[in-house]
Amino acid sequence: MNAATPTPAERAAELRDLILRLDAAYYERAEPLATDAEYDAAFRELQALEAAHPELATADSPTRRVGGKASGGFEPVTHAVPMLSIRTETEHGPAGALAFDARVRRELGLGDADPAVEYAAELKFDGLAINLRYERGLLVSAATRGDGSTGDNVLANIRTVRAIPARLAGAAPEVIEIRGEVYMRHDDFAALNQRQAAADAKTFVNPRNAAAGSLRQLDPAITAQRTLSFFAYGLGEVIGWTEPATHAGLLDAIAAFGLPVCADRAVASGGAELVAFYEGIANKRAELPFDIDGVVYKVNRLALQRDLGFVAREPRWAVAHKYPPQEQTTTVEGIEIQVGRTGALTPVARLAPVFVGGVTVTNATLHNEDEIRRKDVRVGDVVIVRRAGDVIPEIVGVLAERRTTELPQFVMPTECPICHSAAYRGDDEAVLRCTGGLVCPAQRKQALLHFAQRRALDIEGLGEKVVDQLVDAGIVRTPADLFNLGLLNLVALERMGEKSAQNLVDAIEKSKRTTLARFIFGLGIRQVGEQTAKDLARHFGALDKLIEAAEADDAEAKAQGVGLAGGAGVAGEGGAGPADAATDAAATEPDSATAGEPATTGDLFASAEPAAKPARRARVKAAQPFPRLSAVRDVGPVVAESIAHFFSEPHNRTAIELLRANGVSWDESAPGTGPAGTALAGKTFVLTGTLPTLTREDAKERIEAAGGKVSGSVSKKTSYVVAGAEAGSKLAKALELDVPVLDEDALLALLAAT
Ligand code: IVH
Repeated sequence: MNAATPTPAERAAELRDLILRLDAAYYERAEPLATDAEYDAAFRELQALEAAHPELATADSPTRRVGGKASGGFEPVTHAVPMLSIRTETEHGPAGALAFDARVRRELGLGDADPAVEYAAELKFDGLAINLRYERGLLVSAATRGDGSTGDNVLANIRTVRAIPARLAGAAPEVIEIRGEVYMRHDDFAALNQRQAAADAKTFVNPRNAAAGSLRQLDPAITAQRTLSFFAYGLGEVIGWTEPATHAGLLDAIAAFGLPVCADRAVASGGAELVAFYEGIANKRAELPFDIDGVVYKVNRLALQRDLGFVAREPRWAVAHKYPPQEQTTTVEGIEIQVGRTGALTPVARLAPVFVGGVTVTNATLHNEDEIRRKDVRVGDVVIVRRAGDVIPEIVGVLAERRTTELPQFVMPTECPICHSAAYRGDDEAVLRCTGGLVCPAQRKQALLHFAQRRALDIEGLGEKVVDQLVDAGIVRTPADLFNLGLLNLVALERMGEKSAQNLVDAIEKSKRTTLARFIFGLGIRQVGEQTAKDLARHFGALDKLIEAAEADDAEAKAQGVGLAGGAGVAGEGGAGPADAATDAAATEPDSATAGEPATTGDLFASAEPAAKPARRARVKAAQPFPRLSAVRDVGPVVAESIAHFFSEPHNRTAIELLRANGVSWDESAPGTGPAGTALAGKTFVLTGTLPTLTREDAKERIEAAGGKVSGSVSKKTSYVVAGAEAGSKLAKALELDVPVLDEDALLALLAAT
């Protein structure tokens, strides 16, 4: 790919063509095809080429004008005073400010002994320049910059901007034109995009683009629905008004007329104070509620501004000092899959390295498949990457016009790239998940913690720190490995004395005797919380019965082509990213998509069982899948599907066999694990106070084993209140509602009779 280096003439023509196309898209269609930084780079390269080869500077070169031209659809407005642009210092450091100060001093003929020049320092708002013309205090025209000489009259749209008064406050001059920037705040931008997405309308890549698009609406009613803001920063034509002596005074006067002027401004004396302003604003840039791309320095005394004048349509008395861009364009070189701690498969874009937001970014999360489709990101695309403050870099959009060849859509894999278990997307979820919870290296730590937690196998002392070390050292891979741990393995760990190591060994040994319900819960089957695990244990009585039912249901569902037969929720095969994707978690948030899960401490999966969507129910009803699992109390199709899938996964079956082989056992007919009793079916109990021998948990388990329910509050529907010592308001409520009250003996008698 060694294309011949273009001649300066060819390169200049290329750049001119590029800039004209970018201008047309930006100014006429409000569609940025490049970031500011890219545009600036092309512009500067062309300027440099034309300076070095003056014969190349054509009359129509974009460097000869200051912006786009007025677009059709709006009435043209000739600016009484041209709207110029300002020179940009792109050096992201003190040098930019110091160079400006030195230039100003030189132009003014000041020597080292002369006093510091005073500057007005303000923000460089990232929006659209607008000229507001007030005649005798009334807003009569509002024009975009256009090409600097002629802009578009967008008055009807500007009238919908609440921040811009239709009438000036106080004594108004004959004519005053106030110039400033129309922009959109971050919160208004987010709300707009949310509404656009909900209405299946085009979303905007950034606030400036949204502001431009909104201002260029031919129907002001649409602009009125978009919240635009405004900051004034200067004047155009003025008749019948005496200007203040300084720019700072001018801004105060504009504020007194009732127009918004940004409070983040300062009067700075000399270059050093400009540097301090630049740095101070850099530090708060991420917290500003709107985008800025730099700061602007202006010589404060208007008389000095007049002395300095203009060069090549740029004032000598002002400069824009930019910050590192928060947006850049780059190329998507690949899309890989990361597997998070809870099994979420997250697509991550690998990017050609790009300097944005002050760091070099090489990847950006794409969140999930819906997001990829919505943004239509494909490998090979040129995209805009944004990184503001410490926020994780994200792809804000694709530069569609840069896609010159047909690129294939990205398809999510049907299996986990780490452990090759099937990947599964629940109907109610945007996230694709690995089903190999017990065996998947990416999920190991989480699975072990879930398995060991108090409400599961209850291994005291097996906390996060120990699990981290055991997994990182490669000593423990699956829960079964826990039962082969020797004292020596443990003593070698950080901050683990002999005594605590022995305690842990004992706790592990003790945990081998468990209940079927705890064991099922400990497996970390998605959608199966503690209560469902108990229901399953009671219903099936034995693990093999549960497995048989799950397998039979799974086979039938697959045969009927419902549920998991759809697998990953996406049709098609292949598309898996490189298997080592998970090793680089930098700059991504693999499990962000799971943040909304109702999870209790240490739970691998949520214990709440969300209701299926109506559409899903209809589909399930027609096909009648999972009849065996759905027969269990409170197990609906979504939960049944998850259970069926878990047990049909060979990896999980192997992990269970290993646990049994390592001595994990339970009594398959003990209370709390046997088939559900029915004697107390339909009865609701409320427990209150301290019982003499039973813990709350024991009492609850026994009532539930007999088919009863335990609830937290007393109502007329409560069958019994079981009261112990120091029973409080619940007992009072029971007496008030005439609900029978039992003590522990009475409860035990009731249970014995069942
Ligand atoms: S002064 C003659 N001040 O930046 C000087 N411009 O090239 C006129 N901008 O598109 C500009 N914030 O819309 C000035 N505080 C500020 C500004 C600002 C943003 C924009 C302006 C123009 C560009 C300057």
